[in-house]
Amino acid sequence: MLDLLLRNAVTPDGEPVDIACQDGRIVEVGPNLQGDAAETVDAGGHLVTPPFVDSHFHMDATLSFGQPRVNQSGTLLEGIALWGELKPHLTVEAIKQRAHDFCKWAIGRGTLAVRSHVDICDPRLLAVDALLEVREEIKPYIDLQLVAFPQDGYLRDPDAAGQLDRALDKGVDVVGGIPHFERTMQHGADSVKALMEIAAARGLLVDMHCDETDDPNSRHIETLAMETQRLGLQGRVAGSHLTSMHSMDNYYVSKLIPLMAEAGVAAVSNPLINITIQGRHDTYPKRRGLTRIKELVAAGIDVSLGHDCVMDPWYSLGSHDMLEVAHMAVHAAQMTGMAEIRQMFDAVTTVAARTLHLEGYGLDKGDKADLVVLQAASPFEAIRLRPARLFVIRAGKVIVRTAPVTAELDLNGERSTVDFTLS
Ligand code: FE2
Repeated sequence: MLDLLLRNAVTPDGEPVDIACQDGRIVEVGPNLQGDAAETVDAGGHLVTPPFVDSHFHMDATLSFGQPRVNQSGTLLEGIALWGELKPHLTVEAIKQRAHDFCKWAIGRGTLAVRSHVDICDPRLLAVDALLEVREEIKPYIDLQLVAFPQDGYLRDPDAAGQLDRALDKGVDVVGGIPHFERTMQHGADSVKALMEIAAARGLLVDMHCDETDDPNSRHIETLAMETQRLGLQGRVAGSHLTSMHSMDNYYVSKLIPLMAEAGVAAVSNPLINITIQGRHDTYPKRRGLTRIKELVAAGIDVSLGHDCVMDPWYSLGSHDMLEVAHMAVHAAQMTGMAEIRQMFDAVTTVAARTLHLEGYGLDKGDKADLVVLQAASPFEAIRLRPARLFVIRAGKVIVRTAPVTAELDLNGERSTVDFTLS
């Protein structure tokens, strides 16, 4: 007997399907499937997708908004300073509590895989210990990948190198970095080289905060791509943020993007955060400060999107909705063509899964039975409406149900309903 039979759904490519699940895997996909199932779910002709994937987040800082005070300037640098004020007062219990509260929001929105950076610039490594425990505790529901992130600079903080090694020894999954926060351009490049060598020696993936600045001379992505090639790490490295690319000279970018493509370096953009943090030193016109999503995608580079922050020193808003992230990318990067809107849906699903090297991700036979049914007919409508996650399914079990959103109107005695789709 099947564990679950999802009936009457439509894939992102528009194919009507039923999906049969057993022992945590998809065992059959096709029209009008037969068979007894412990649970049958009628998708009502709505869109089914593999779960949303957040490829860039900070779970150690989430839901700490206002502690100990609010970011007044709205800049990245004040956010880092503010986090530095909070760090000495952190406890494992408080970090875990906030992380678990956050995970419930993520699950409720159908996000079942998260790559979270964890700050290792704390001699106690409290956040590392806390999030390693959360990673195990939340495993039945979320695939949580942790990145060793030297927030205060791998070279700039004299203790960071030792602490990063200890964090990796404890089981943190991915090597991080922040070259633009080092003291000089040379130190930034040196930090990239050192961190890439650690990743190569340990056989780990890499995801660095890279060039998160409006300074067009911040070119650490170039070093990251060259080191990827030198060490044979193609397909295993991501550059997060890459906002300086927004301000770079077009001629230089025409050399840089092919280098990134050749090196197989993925890009991770965080549009909610960078549209608010970047350009703060500008008068008018104010730069948007997002990386060149359109050009990177056109060059065949994997571009995924991250939420980055929810209610923390850098960003006061958010409820962890990856469709909100994709919606902002569509607007701020002008990805408004029909194919481009679909690419932004893929940037929070399939492309992000590839960047994170997730196993068994997808809607094919043999993939994990992790599914989300949205109150929408297509990826286009999903981004337009950011609709209810009617069902979130993990390992063949329904773990979230959300009532469809329908507004009931009473217009001068004439009653009707709207769900914001074209009837
Ligand atoms: Fe970040």
